[in-house]
Amino acid sequence: MAKCLVFVIGFLGLCWQVGCGQHKYDNYTLLRIIPNHDQHLQKLAELPLDEEISHGEVEVLKRSYGLNDSTDVLVSPNSKKLFEQFAVKNGMPVVTKHYYGRSFEALERVSRRRLREAFRVYGYNSFDAIKSYLDDLKFRKAELVRLQPLGYSYQRRAMSLVKISKDPSAGNPIIFIDAGIHAREWVAPAMAMYIIHRLVTDSGARELDGLDWYILPVVNPDGYEYTRSSRSQRLWRKTRSKTARDCYGVDGNRNYGFKWGVSGVSNNPCDKETYAGPKPFSEPETQMVRNVMMTYRDRIKLYVSLHAYGQYLVYPWGYTGGSLPTSWRKLDSLARKVSNAVQNAGGQPFKVLSAGQWYPAAGGSDDFAFGAAGIPYSYTMELTDGYEFVYPENNLATILPQLYEGFRTFAEEIKQEFGYASRSSLGSITKQAALNHKVNFVHCDLARN
Ligand code: ARG
Ligand code: ZN
Repeated sequence: MAKCLVFVIGFLGLCWQVGCGQHKYDNYTLLRIIPNHDQHLQKLAELPLDEEISHGEVEVLKRSYGLNDSTDVLVSPNSKKLFEQFAVKNGMPVVTKHYYGRSFEALERVSRRRLREAFRVYGYNSFDAIKSYLDDLKFRKAELVRLQPLGYSYQRRAMSLVKISKDPSAGNPIIFIDAGIHAREWVAPAMAMYIIHRLVTDSGARELDGLDWYILPVVNPDGYEYTRSSRSQRLWRKTRSKTARDCYGVDGNRNYGFKWGVSGVSNNPCDKETYAGPKPFSEPETQMVRNVMMTYRDRIKLYVSLHAYGQYLVYPWGYTGGSLPTSWRKLDSLARKVSNAVQNAGGQPFKVLSAGQWYPAAGGSDDFAFGAAGIPYSYTMELTDGYEFVYPENNLATILPQLYEGFRTFAEEIKQEFGYASRSSLGSITKQAALNHKVNFVHCDLARN
C-alpha cells in the first residue's frame, strides 16, 4: 500500500512537472534569431544566458557563424518573452516554431521505434538494428567487409569498426569516418550507414579502388539509445557516464586530448551541453576513436566526423579562431570541392570555414586527428539545415544520395594526392619496393598519370 502511494505521488509529481501525457519540450518554443548587422553578431555573442541555461529553461542549439546565419535557441514558456524582447529590442528578425517537442515523433516515425524492426537504409534505426545489419553484412559481403571489435561503451554496448576494402593487405590510404558522438544528431549515423551501404552495393564503384574506408557509425550508442527512449530525452547530446551525483554524461567532442579544455567548454558535470569531462579521454567512446586514429595514423589521410546540423564543413583549428594551420588552403579548397559536388547533385552547399572561426571549442576529434595524430585532412561535417536535430525521416532518401556525392569527391581527391596513381603501370613489384624502402610516392610525379 505504502509502495503504491509512493508510486502515485511520484506519478503526480511528474504530471505536475511536464503535464500529464506531455513531454518536456512540448511547450517549448524554438526561436531562430537572424543577425543581419554586425552589431547583431556582437549582441548575440554576449547573450546573457548562464542562469537560464543552468535551470534548463534555455538551450542554444546552434550559433551564428556570420551575418544571416541564425542563432537557434529553444526556450521554455517562462523565458520565451525575454528572448523575443531581446530580438525585437535589437531589431533582429525571429522565426518562431511553437510547441516544438510535439513535432518530434511525427517527423521521425519514432512511434514505431520500440518495435523490433529490420534495418532500413533511409531510416533512423536502433543501435541493435544497426549492429545486426553489420553482423550480417560481414557474411554477405565477406570479400569487402570486416568488423574489428573496438571495445564497449560505458553501458557496455559492443562497438566495432567497419572496415571496407578490396585489398586489405595493400596498405592503401584510409578514409576514416565517424558519426554520432552527439546523441541527438540522428542524421549522422544514418549518413554513415548510407556510405557503408553504397560502398558495398555499387558494383564497380571507383571509391574502393586503391582506398580503404574505415567507418564507426555510432560513436555514442548509449546516448543514441537514450534519445530514442522518449520524446523528453530526444535532445540529449552527451555520453551517459555518471560524472557527479545525479549528473550524467560528457560532451565527447570536448573530451579529446589536444588543447583539452582551453576554449568553449564547461567544467560543470551537470552542464547538459559542453562538459569536457574530468580529464582528456575520460570516456571509453572517445578512447576507441583515438585508438583507431593512432593505430592507423600513417595511412589515414582523411578524417570526417559527421554531426548535425547547419550544413557546415569545418576544418581545424577548432580550439581557436585566431590562427589557422599552415595547410589551411588545402583544407579549405578540398572542402569547397566537396560542397560543389553536393550542390551539383541537387543538395545544399556547405558553409566552409575553420571550426574556430565559427565558434572556438577545444577538445574536438577534428583537432586531435589533425594536430595529434597528424592526419592531413580533417573535418567536421554538420549535416542538414532547417530542421535542427529532428530531421524528417521522409527526406533521407533524397538527401543521403546527394551528400554521398561529396564523399565520392573526397575519395577522388584523396586518391589523387595519396594513392598510387596508376597501379597497373607501376606494377606490384614497384609497389612492394616502395613499401619496403618506405619510398614515398605521394609527391613523385612519375607515379601520376
Ligand atoms: N558542433 C560541433 C561541436 O560543437 C562543432 C565542432 C567543430 N570542431 C571543433 N573542434 N570545435 O562540437
Ligand atoms: Zn555535434
